[in-house]
Amino acid sequence: MFVSDSLAVNGQGHLTFSGVDTVSLAEKYGTPLYVMSEDGIRKNCRAFKNAVDEYYGGNGLILYASKAFCCKEIYRIVKSEGLGIDVVSGGELFTALSVSFPAEKIYFHGNNKTPDEIKYAVENRVGCFVVDHIDELEIINSAAEKENITQNVMLRIKPGIDAHTHEFIKTGQIDSKFGFLLESGEAMQAVKNALEYKNLNLCGLHCHIGSQIFEEQPFEFAAKIMLGFLKQIKNETGIELEKLNLGGGFGIKYVEGDMAIPFENYIQKVSEVVKAECKTLDIAVPFILMEPGRAIVGSEGITLYTIGFIKDIPNVRKFVSVDGGISDNPRYALYQAEYSAAVANKAGEDACDVVTIAGKCCESGDLIQKDCHIQKAQTGDILAVFSTGAYNYSMSSNYNRLPKPPVVMIKNGEAREVVKGEKYEDVLRNDL
Ligand code: LLP
Repeated sequence: MFVSDSLAVNGQGHLTFSGVDTVSLAEKYGTPLYVMSEDGIRKNCRAFKNAVDEYYGGNGLILYASKAFCCKEIYRIVKSEGLGIDVVSGGELFTALSVSFPAEKIYFHGNNKTPDEIKYAVENRVGCFVVDHIDELEIINSAAEKENITQNVMLRIKPGIDAHTHEFIKTGQIDSKFGFLLESGEAMQAVKNALEYKNLNLCGLHCHIGSQIFEEQPFEFAAKIMLGFLKQIKNETGIELEKLNLGGGFGIKYVEGDMAIPFENYIQKVSEVVKAECKTLDIAVPFILMEPGRAIVGSEGITLYTIGFIKDIPNVRKFVSVDGGISDNPRYALYQAEYSAAVANKAGEDACDVVTIAGKCCESGDLIQKDCHIQKAQTGDILAVFSTGAYNYSMSSNYNRLPKPPVVMIKNGEAREVVKGEKYEDVLRNDL
């Protein structure tokens, strides 16, 4: 009935999430409210980790792509589960280091890392840079030279895969700002340059083909292309790179029709291709890294709102307005992302109404979802939007000077605040 196993209905007909009554959460913490399930997040971390143990004999590491949901507490959780992380900015790195995340398990991504970010990361001994431009090598090398260390780097490659996903979240194809091109020889040139630098250790290759992908085939194609390139590197330089990072992108269920394959199955299928291909190419199976973001946190978050005014335009559409909007969830406006929702205090009733969920921001594009089936709603009801754990809080803004909502985490049936909600004074914090 629901898109996530963490959702259910209790005896009062209220929606529960991770075993907790969402109506009482809304009463206690107010709305809008992000609610995350620590139990669910930990379960996902373990499933990924176990799959690497099972299908790669433990010769790999899962990096949580922290752009999906970033705050101190998620880094504490992921750290205690033994995962590494992918960070893409000085800000994410600073957050991770603030809770003593083991630096050697941090992979620093980005197509335009600034010299200051590079210096900061080298000084703090991040495990590896995922290099995305030829000139980045020189900057990392000189920062490493100043620190008198050898810095691990890998190169981000464009495998040229179209993963049939939304145009904006497709990153592995040729017309992309990310990565080195294989076909033109750019990638091989980057490899040769990287090998020249005294203070760099080129330890592997990386690719990421997109996000919210439901088929395993694109992952298999990407793995084959990357292994072929590892072989080519071996042939041309005599060096066999140790690591292969296959990126993230595993799709999750937002609406009933989403056919999300359990991610263990992707990992199993891709591992079979990797092992067979390595055999054919006569190279060792590399240390495998994967970078799931959405698949770890996406289904393990919901957003609670209070329903305000309802505008029923006969024969046109019924707008149900909530006390948040694109400021806490810009994904419909950006990608026409699909969501499902329910009236939390009436979750046991039939979802017989078709409504458009609108935010309170001052523009017509501020919608959370069009034509969504929910229970018959009234002003004052609590609306729960599902699968908002990834790329909602992390992409939130203060548009229209709306304070950002708090984030509450649930563990063993107990809720606690892990990010405070902003007050109007917080919104003014940097104004002079
Ligand atoms: N690794 C790299 C290098 C990435 O660029 C990304 C996502 C990931 C891993 C994690 O992908 P995931 O497993 O979460 O699909 N804001 C968009 C998603 C952008 C994804 C960007 N890169 C959204 O809201 O759908």
